[in-house]
Amino acid sequence: MLRIKDNILYFDGCNTVELAKSYGTPLYVLSETAIVERCREIKETFLNKYERTRAAYASKAFLTLAMCKIIEREGLCLDVVSGGELYTAIKADFPAERIEFNGNNKSLEELELAIDYNIGRIIVDGFDELDIIEDICRKKGKKTNILYRITPGVKSDSHDYIVTGKKDSKFGFPLDDDVIFPAIEKAINSPYVNFLGLHFHVGSQLHTNESHLKALNITLKLIKDLIERYDYVIKELNVGGGYGIRYTDADDRKPYAYFLDPIMEQIEEFSKNMNITRPDVVVEPGRSIVGEAGITLYTIGTIKDIKGVRKYVSVDGGMTDNIRPALYQAKYEGLIANKAGEPRNDLVTISGKCCESGDILIKDIYLPKAERGDILAVFSTGAYCYAMASNYNKNPMLATVLVKEGKSQVIVKRQTYEHMIANEIIPSL
Ligand code: LLP
Repeated sequence: MLRIKDNILYFDGCNTVELAKSYGTPLYVLSETAIVERCREIKETFLNKYERTRAAYASKAFLTLAMCKIIEREGLCLDVVSGGELYTAIKADFPAERIEFNGNNKSLEELELAIDYNIGRIIVDGFDELDIIEDICRKKGKKTNILYRITPGVKSDSHDYIVTGKKDSKFGFPLDDDVIFPAIEKAINSPYVNFLGLHFHVGSQLHTNESHLKALNITLKLIKDLIERYDYVIKELNVGGGYGIRYTDADDRKPYAYFLDPIMEQIEEFSKNMNITRPDVVVEPGRSIVGEAGITLYTIGTIKDIKGVRKYVSVDGGMTDNIRPALYQAKYEGLIANKAGEPRNDLVTISGKCCESGDILIKDIYLPKAERGDILAVFSTGAYCYAMASNYNKNPMLATVLVKEGKSQVIVKRQTYEHMIANEIIPSL
């Protein structure tokens, strides 16, 4: 998707220096072609290969009305984790039956919105959530499809903040017999829900399939227990997302098949051995659909060369549009879009403009000699950047431009100062 021509960086056929000029910086740029490529990969190597499977895009990675439309058109389902994400999906007319709702502390209002809209599934995260859902369904005369999210108690190799499958987690039911079995029994017997099965998610930005397979083994054991205890065969198994992408040379993005083929093999073998119908299998990729499909363009401003220490190259955005380096010590790569073909001999650190020493986007990167006014492109910013943006220091949120084969269109307008203070009130007291 990234190409260099005449010393200029092109992204999905668009001249990024021109994009910066036309739409201003900082700017998120999202390639529709790249998103579609990833959706097609999952279709060809998973959905079409195995029957009764679904892929629900984890919308927390990046969600706008435009993204809902792309995901809908590509035939994927949508995983939401808040009333706001659900509202966005509803506003985009996303088909209700293709929406599933995750989250460890869904509010009454959020659950009501989900049930009113007749979404496909609610993934229940704890005991009292079932009570609330039953209550809503009783009052509305409805029955809702649910799964239980379990914490299989495996540790994944990723940053501690994005590891979710270990036992000490705020997510899901722990697998203690006296917790999980009464909970499942209650759901199986409830007249207000259809208990479809189980869900796990082990973590994010994973480059090996080890923890997925460990979690799967533990889950299959639970499925066996349910057959033996209650003569109950689950209908659906959701194995979450977490498939890693390429941020720097240190990462390699594995094909979906690397994760999903062994998962399917084990589930199919288990089902055959148990003489049961294989459950429908659902995956929830977020980052891997959209992460490498996004770049961020910045304009370089102040350059501060502290002799013998470090050269700071400051840009007009920072931790407000990409919190990941500050929060997870995430590493990024980039280059100067208007000097894309030039040798990179100058070791610099890219700093943001926030009043915070930790506002460093890239520590130690070789670039051509940077000058004020140059355009810096940072790669692989499609996931969890726009989604985690803030107004810290009252910096307005960026515009997002969708590009496709040389064409571009704004899909999120730049926030204005006026917009930023629109909800503020000067007290009359
Ligand atoms: N399903 C569930 C239940 C999840 O909790 C998550 C991510 C996903 C699916 C999607 O995972 P993915 O395929 O995107 O790895 N803000 C962090 C990532 C937090 C991920 C939380 N859950 C970051 O910027 O790295």
